[in-house]
Amino acid sequence: MDTQEALLNRRTIHRYTDEPIPDGVVERALQAAIRAPNHKLTNPWRFTRVGKSTRQKLTELGIQLKAEKKGGIDDDYEQFLREKYGNPAELIAVSQVLDDDPFRRKEDYAATAAAIQNFCLSLFADGVGSKWSTGSMTRHDDTYAWLEIDPDVEEIVAFLWVGMPEIVPDPPRMSLDQVVREVP
Ligand SMILES: Cc1cc2nc3c(=O)[nH]c(=O)nc-3n(C[C@H](O)[C@H](O)[C@H](O)COP(=O)(O)O)c2cc1C
Repeated sequence: MDTQEALLNRRTIHRYTDEPIPDGVVERALQAAIRAPNHKLTNPWRFTRVGKSTRQKLTELGIQLKAEKKGGIDDDYEQFLREKYGNPAELIAVSQVLDDDPFRRKEDYAATAAAIQNFCLSLFADGVGSKWSTGSMTRHDDTYAWLEIDPDVEEIVAFLWVGMPEIVPDPPRMSLDQVVREVP
């Protein structure tokens, strides 16, 4: 796929089928991710590929958190959540190694964000959908424990849900003249 085509047409996918991802696609996307720019070559990104049993625990946690937030959920909504968390073929947590220096930490966040975008664009070019999520599950103590991430060492920047798109949305964007200005 042409680079411009990928840049202009990648969309966040919220609804996935339960189809598998073609072999090698996630590995190619990870290779693209780790080629993102990073100041001082800190390589601040870490990727945790979440296996079946941990995924199951996260699904239950996600349902529990949603029920707490809404003061309860009905069976239909619970089923919707099970598909939301269960359908995407892969879940990958991206975390950032936390530097002691606040400026370096900010730059490392930017680099990690660039890595995530590389990852999502590579997937898109291979016909695979993704979603960057920062829902409350990504910040929960249990999530850190199950993913074996020490919050004093790394911070989870994203859950990346990856799979075959069921629906491709097209949210509105601001126009260029709303966001670009010129100075003499
Ligand atoms: C830092 C960051 C956090 C995000 N967190 C969420 C999230 O928690 N849930 C969600 O549905 N989408 C999340 N998104 C995706 C955005 O909602 C999405 O990019 C936006 O709606 C524009 O859609 P597009 O990616 O298709 O252009 C996140 C995106 C970014 C950059």
